[in-house]
Amino acid sequence: MPNLMVDLAGLKLRNPTMLAAGVMGISSSLMRRVAKAGAAAVVTKSIGVEPRLGYSNPTVVAVRCGLINAMGLSNPGIRAFTNEIMLLKQFKVPVVASIFAGNSERFSQLAQYVEKAGANAIELNVSCPNVEGVSQICQDTSLLFKVVEAVKSVTSVPIITKLSPNVTDIVHVAKAAEEAGSDAVTAINTVRAMAIEIETGRPILANKIGGLSGPAIKPIAVRCVYEISRALKIPVIGCGGVTCWQDAIELLLAGAKAVQIGTAIKYKELGIFNEIVSGIKKYLEDRGYRKVDDIVGLSHQY
Ligand code: SIN
Repeated sequence: MPNLMVDLAGLKLRNPTMLAAGVMGISSSLMRRVAKAGAAAVVTKSIGVEPRLGYSNPTVVAVRCGLINAMGLSNPGIRAFTNEIMLLKQFKVPVVASIFAGNSERFSQLAQYVEKAGANAIELNVSCPNVEGVSQICQDTSLLFKVVEAVKSVTSVPIITKLSPNVTDIVHVAKAAEEAGSDAVTAINTVRAMAIEIETGRPILANKIGGLSGPAIKPIAVRCVYEISRALKIPVIGCGGVTCWQDAIELLLAGAKAVQIGTAIKYKELGIFNEIVSGIKKYLEDRGYRKVDDIVGLSHQY
């Protein structure tokens, strides 16, 4: 029987699946449901210092191969959200608080809040493609370095930096995060995209441009995980278009230690977690592997 447990920068995961930020991570009760369905860790919706309404509708459009969203980082603000994290204090699976801000001071402030509330790790959203001031952080490695370094200096839980594919060289950005003290990176956030209504010629999203998630971006995620994990010592979490266990295996082979699942919940509901965990287990069993780590980055040998 293969061991599915994964040690992710000190976080003990019972299997390699995690809930991705932005999907069902808005309340403790929803996150409980996701954990019950099999996810080994949950990432909250991205939270900022102040409440934010986000953009007006339409904020999401379904396209043939995924979803394009421009929510505009809508969230209730850290004061209101702290209680949701506190309610998960005795939770069976690690809670990763996703936070966003426009500068290192605010990121540090948020990090201290969520750690005090009981978050087991922090994911830095420096890569939301839809909000000015946030999307710029991962485009500018010196700014990114400052943010990660500042958060690291005020927290003791693992820091995970969520990277954007909307850059020329994601490895360069990942290296800056690692050098600044990030304990892990998540690759990738959504890919800048757009949909237009052909009768009127009108962009469908209120924000016009948004971020594409879902099956279309999985090969981009695989490429990014592969390149980053070859260059970095810290663990990489694969995220982007995972809709079946084969997708999860592909990301593990590319070098991911764990995979995040988000958009696929729309297609397969919460049963996706068990489906993927069972598939990984059988894959390992059939090939005589004893643990998940045995296949992490296996593709690098070729
Ligand atoms: C949004 O709120 O617009 C999306 C968040 C993200 O992609 O990080």
